Amino acid sequence: MVAPLAVGGQHIRQYHQNGDPPRILITGGLGQLGTGLAHLLRGKYGKESVILSDIVKPSKEIVQAGPYVFADILDFKCLQEIVVTYRIDWLVHFSALLSAIGEQNVPLAIRVNIEGLHNIMELSKQYNLRVFVPSTIGAFGPTSPRNPTPNLTIQRPQTIYGVSKVHAELLGEYYHHRFGLDFRCLRFPGVISSDTQPGGGTTDYAVQIFHDAMAGNHFECYLRPNTRLPMMYIEDCLRSLWEMLVAPPEKLRTRTYNVTAMSFTPEEVVAEVKKHFPELKVTYRPDSRQKIADTWPEVFDDSEARKDWGWAHDYDLSDLCNIMFDNLKNQQAGNR
Ligand SMILES: NC(=O)c1ccc[n+]([C@@H]2O[C@H](COP(=O)([O-])OP(=O)(O)OC[C@H]3O[C@@H](n4cnc5c(N)ncnc54)[C@H](O)[C@@H]3O)[C@@H](O)[C@H]2O)c1
Repeated sequence: MVAPLAVGGQHIRQYHQNGDPPRILITGGLGQLGTGLAHLLRGKYGKESVILSDIVKPSKEIVQAGPYVFADILDFKCLQEIVVTYRIDWLVHFSALLSAIGEQNVPLAIRVNIEGLHNIMELSKQYNLRVFVPSTIGAFGPTSPRNPTPNLTIQRPQTIYGVSKVHAELLGEYYHHRFGLDFRCLRFPGVISSDTQPGGGTTDYAVQIFHDAMAGNHFECYLRPNTRLPMMYIEDCLRSLWEMLVAPPEKLRTRTYNVTAMSFTPEEVVAEVKKHFPELKVTYRPDSRQKIADTWPEVFDDSEARKDWGWAHDYDLSDLCNIMFDNLKNQQAGNR
C-alpha cells in the first residue's frame, strides 16, 4: 500500500516501482545544494535509496551519511554503470559551472553545462529515468521583462551559464515531447544556506553577509546597494524541488517553472542584518558580477507554479535572517 502524500494541499500517490521507494542519483552532489537534498530524500525514501555523486573527494561525514560514488558527467559509460548497478529510477542533475565561474572558463562551462547535459538526457532516455535539471534566474537577459519576470517570456541571457540553462530547458522539453522523457525543471533564484558554501554565482553576497556579520568582519559587497534580485532559503528551494519531483504529471502544464520566495537589494538585507548586528560595517565595490546582475530578473513571477502544483514558500527576508543566525550560532557552539 502506498501512503498518500500531501503536496500543495492535494493528496497524491507517491511514485513507486514495484512498491519500492524510488532510487535516486544526484550528480554534482557536493556543491551548495546536493548534500541538503540527499538528506531530505533519504529522510523520505531511506538512506540506501539516494546515491550522491561528484568528482570531489568526500569527507568522512559524507561517506557515513549514505552511498557516495565518483561520477564525472562527461563520462557516459561511468554514468551508465552507476544507473545499472544501483538500479536508478530518478536523476537529479546538479553538476554545473555557475554564472561567475563560467565566465572565467567558457570552454569548460560549455563542456560541463552543455556536453554533460547531453549525456544526462541520453542516459535518462535510455534507462527511462525521471530527470530533474535546475535552471536559474540567469536563464533570462536584458531583453526579458525584469519586474516581474513571467514563466514564459523572452530569454536571451548574456552569460554562458544562462545560455547553457536555456539549452537545458529547451532540450529537456524537446525530449519530453519527442520521446516522452519525464523531464522536470525549476528555475531557482539565488539560494541562501548556512552549512554549505555557494559555488561561484552572482547572488553569493547574500550568503557571505551572514558569515561576515557573525565573524565581526567588515562586509564588502560586490553589487551596488540597490541591485534587486530574487532569492530563496535553501529549505524552500529543496522542498520545491521535491514537490516538483513528485507532482502528478497531469498537474504540470509545462515542464519548466519559475519558483522564488522573496526579492531584496543589498541595502535591504543589510538593514535586516543590522537588526541583529548593528555594528556591521558595510562598503560597496561593484565588480564584474554587477554587469551580470543588471541583466537578471529583479522580481520573479512564480504564480504558475503556485497555481499548477501548489508551490508556497515558507521563508521571507526576516525569517531568513533569523534562521541563518540561529544556524550559524549553533554551528559555532558545536565547533567550540
Ligand atoms: N545555488 C544557487 O543559488 C543556484 C541557483 C539557481 C540554480 N542553481 C543550480 O543548481 C545546481 C546545483 O547548484 P550548486 O549551487 O549546488 O552548485 P555548486 O557549484 O555548488 O556545485 C556544482 C557541483 O558540480 C560538480 N561538478 C563540476 N564538474 C563536474 C563534472 N564534470 N562531473 C560531475 N560533477 C561536476 C562540482 O564538483 C560541484 O560540486 C546547478 O545546476 C545550478 O545551476 C543553483
